[in-house]
Amino acid sequence: MPLFKIIDINPSAKVFLWKITEDFNELFRNVSLKDTSLARLEGMKSESHQKGFMAVRMLFQEAGYSDFDLYYDAFGKPHLKDGTHISISHSFDFSAIVLSTCNIGIDLELVKDKVLRIAPRFMDVSHLDNLSEAEQMRKATVVWGIKEAIFKLKNEVGISFPDHIFESPFQLSDKKCSAELHFNNVIQHYDIIFEEIDANANGELKQVYTLVCAVES
Ligand SMILES: CC(C)(COP(=O)(O)OP(=O)(O)OC[C@H]1O[C@@H](n2cnc3c(N)ncnc32)[C@H](O)[C@@H]1OP(=O)(O)O)[C@@H](O)C(=O)NCCC(=O)NCCS
Repeated sequence: MPLFKIIDINPSAKVFLWKITEDFNELFRNVSLKDTSLARLEGMKSESHQKGFMAVRMLFQEAGYSDFDLYYDAFGKPHLKDGTHISISHSFDFSAIVLSTCNIGIDLELVKDKVLRIAPRFMDVSHLDNLSEAEQMRKATVVWGIKEAIFKLKNEVGISFPDHIFESPFQLSDKKCSAELHFNNVIQHYDIIFEEIDANANGELKQVYTLVCAVES
């Protein structure tokens, strides 16, 4: 499948989602990569990672860009040469980019039970009280995505998920909330938008992905 969905986050930010159903060769034939990207692709250990990387380039093309318009800073954060803000995420069968006139972070995660085992390491688990196990899994995945998205937006060494990033109370049905980063004696506020993506097509196992975007308030 080509482009899966475009989501307008706000008037100046758009998410592009790709569902990867192509094999390696089909993606490779359809993207043009600069030498540094080709070298990165060749160095990737798993084909799944390679496909995710190329699907991101397919999304650039959908959005009117190419791999040649992108560069990475020393921390690994991607930037577009024309100054449009970009953030990138990939997870299993999906790749996502967000483009915005303001600094923005995105995270895409497949909802899995593993998140509940690691939840005490990244969040206040009392925020999962009174939920069914399935809801706990979904909510913890949103919280993880919030922290990854803010981390990508901010891109500073030393940010700790449990110690510096705090989400406000929210319900899964809200699809939005706010969060704060307490770092270097400054408190920064973020608006969070989240959406669950049902990846099911006929005959596939049920898979739900959580997409989270963070923007400065
Ligand atoms: C960098 C990091 C955010 C990537 O997240 P991930 O879930 O592994 O992978 P994703 O697919 O969502 O995102 C990967 C993309 O993030 C982007 N990225 C990498 N480093 C980045 C940075 N410093 N700032 C912003 N974006 C970054 C890249 O575009 C990358 O994809 P690409 O290299 O193919 O272009 C993550 O590895 C990380 O370091 N997290 C913070 C560490 C931490 O505190 N972890 C847990 C504490 S309990």
